[in-house]
Amino acid sequence: MKQSSYNVYKNPFSSVLLKLGVCFLLLGLAYRLFSSSYLPFSPSVVNDNELRLNADENFPPYAAEPPDITDDQLVNLDNYTSQSESCNLFIGDWIPDPNGPIYTNTTCYTIESPQNCMKNGRQDSDYLYWRWNPRDCSLPKFDPKKFLHMMRHKSLAFIGDSIMRNHVQSLLCALSQVEQSVQVYHDSTYKNRRWLFPSHHFHVSVVWSPFLAKATTFEDDNGVSSGLIQLHLDELDSVWTQQYDNFDYVIIAGGKWYLKSALYYENKTVIGCHNCHDQNVTQLGFKYAYRRVLNSTLKFITGSDHKPYIFLRTTTPDHFENGEWNSGGYCNRTRPFKEGEIEIGLVDEILRNIELEEFEGAETIGSENGTVLKLFDTMFLSLLRPDGHPGVYREFHPYAGKDKNAKIQNDCLHWCLPGPIDSWNDLMMEILLRRSS
Ligand SMILES: *[C@@H]1O[C@H](CO)[C@@H](O)[C@H](O)[C@H]1NC(C)=O
Ligand SMILES: *[C@@H]1O[C@H](CO)[C@@H](O)[C@H](O)[C@H]1NC(C)=O
Ligand SMILES: *[C@@H]1O[C@H](CO)[C@@H](O)[C@H](O)[C@H]1NC(C)=O
Ligand SMILES: *[C@@H]1O[C@H](CO)[C@@H](O)[C@H](O)[C@H]1NC(C)=O
Ligand SMILES: *[C@@H]1O[C@H](CO)[C@@H](O)[C@H](O)[C@H]1NC(C)=O
Ligand SMILES: *[C@@H]1O[C@H](CO)[C@@H](O)[C@H](O)[C@H]1NC(C)=O
Ligand SMILES: *[C@@H]1O[C@H](CO)[C@@H](O)[C@H](O)[C@H]1NC(C)=O
Repeated sequence: MKQSSYNVYKNPFSSVLLKLGVCFLLLGLAYRLFSSSYLPFSPSVVNDNELRLNADENFPPYAAEPPDITDDQLVNLDNYTSQSESCNLFIGDWIPDPNGPIYTNTTCYTIESPQNCMKNGRQDSDYLYWRWNPRDCSLPKFDPKKFLHMMRHKSLAFIGDSIMRNHVQSLLCALSQVEQSVQVYHDSTYKNRRWLFPSHHFHVSVVWSPFLAKATTFEDDNGVSSGLIQLHLDELDSVWTQQYDNFDYVIIAGGKWYLKSALYYENKTVIGCHNCHDQNVTQLGFKYAYRRVLNSTLKFITGSDHKPYIFLRTTTPDHFENGEWNSGGYCNRTRPFKEGEIEIGLVDEILRNIELEEFEGAETIGSENGTVLKLFDTMFLSLLRPDGHPGVYREFHPYAGKDKNAKIQNDCLHWCLPGPIDSWNDLMMEILLRRSS
C-alpha cells in the first residue's frame, strides 16, 4: 500500500488531529485508567475441562490425503478475478447481510465462553446481519473450502494478545464448517495452542505475546496486578521468534498492552518507565516503547532468511461508553455506526500512527529484501461496530438471580462469535487470493 491510500483515513479522523493538542493535558488522566490492571486483556476465564473436551476428544481420525476438490472449485480459485490492486479493502461501510454468518453457536463447537454471546443470553441478533463492503471493490464472503485448499501443507500463526485469540477462534469456527481441527499442542495456560486440519495438513497456531518483546508480568487471572510489568525493549519475545521459521503465514500485532504501567529495560538495565511513581526513573511513555519494539519486530521480520507472508494488524478499538472497563463503562448498542458518527479515540490514534509509520519503513525494506508485508488495517471497520462486543454477555446469563440494574463488568473490546471479527477472515482471504492471481 502506498502513502496515498492512508490519506483517505485522514477524513474521518481529521478533527481529532486538531483536538490533539488540546486533549494532550487530559492524557495523564486517561492513562491512569489503563494503568496497573486491565481486565479485558487479561486471560479470559478459560474453563480447562470444557476446552479439553471440545478440542481433544471425539474428533475424526486423521485422514491421509486431502479430500477431492472438484474442477469447479479449482477453476474458481485459479480463475479468480481480482480487482485492481489500488482498491483499499479497509475503506467502506457495513451493509445489511440477510444471509448472516457462515457458522452459528450450534454449528461451531469451539466458541469460548466469554465470546459465546448467544449462549450467554444476548437477546438481540441484528448485529449478526452485516457485512463489510469496501467502497471501491467487492469483498466475497470467506469460503472455508477454498481457504483450506489454498492452505494445504502450510502453517498460519496468529501472534499477539487476546484479540489474536478472538480472531483464531473465528477462523476455526469458519473452517469447522468444512473440516474439524484437531488440537495438537497447548501449553499449561492454553494461551499458546496449535491445531491441525488433518486432511489438508494445515496448521494454525496462536502465540501469546502481547508485547512482542520479552516481558515479565505480575497479574492474576482477573488482571489484577501486583507489580510493575518489566519490559525489555531490546529483546524480542522468544516465544514467537523461536517458532518463526515454522510459519508460512503470520498475522502479528501489538497494541493496548503498551498502555499498562511498566518499567522499561535496555541491556538489562532500567532506562525508564510508563506511569511508574518513581521520581528517579524517567517517564519515557508508551509511545517510545511501542515504536521501539515494533521497529525491532519488523527489523527481525525483514532481516530474517525465512520469508513468510506477513500481515501486520493495526490496533483494535474498544467501545466502552460512559466509563472505562473498570468504571462502569458499557456497550449496549445494537447497530453499527456510519462513517462520521464516531471518531477514533486519542490513544488508538497514537498507536495506529506508530503502526503506520513503522509499517511504511519496513515495507520499503521488505520489498527490497523479498519479505511480503501487508498492513491488515482493521481499525476503522472495527471502530464502526460498537454493537459486536459481548458487553455484559461475557458471562453466562449475567442477570440470572440479580436485579436488572445490577452493576456487571462489560467487555467492549473483544468480539462476539459469530460477530464482526468474522469479516477479518473475508479480508485475509481476499488479500491472499489477490496475491495468487
Ligand atoms: C475463467 O472464467 C471465464 C468466465 O467465467 C471462463 O470463460 C474461462 O474459461 C475461465 N478460465 C479458466 C482458465 O478457467
Ligand atoms: C445457542 O444460542 C441459543 C440462543 O440463541 C441458545 O438457546 C442455545 O443454548 C445456544 N446453544 C449453544 C450450544 O450454545
Ligand atoms: C550492556 O551491559 C554490559 C554490562 O552489564 C556492558 O558491558 C555493555 O557494554 C552494555 N552494552 C551496551 C550496548 O550498553
Ligand atoms: C532517588 O535517588 C536518590 C539518590 O540516589 C535516593 O536517595 C532516593 O532514595 C531515590 N528515590 C527513590 C524513590 O528510589
Ligand atoms: C526502524 O527505525 C529506523 C530508524 O528510525 C528506520 O530507519 C527503519 O526504517 C525502521 N524500520 C525497520 C524495519 O528497520
Ligand atoms: C535482507 O535479508 C537478509 C537475509 O535474507 C539479511 O541478511 C539482510 O540483513 C536483510 N537486509 C536488510 C536491509 O534487512
Ligand atoms: C443502554 O444502557 C443505558 C444505561 O443502562 C440505557 O439508558 C440505554 O437505554 C441502553 N440502550 C439500549 C439500546 O439498550
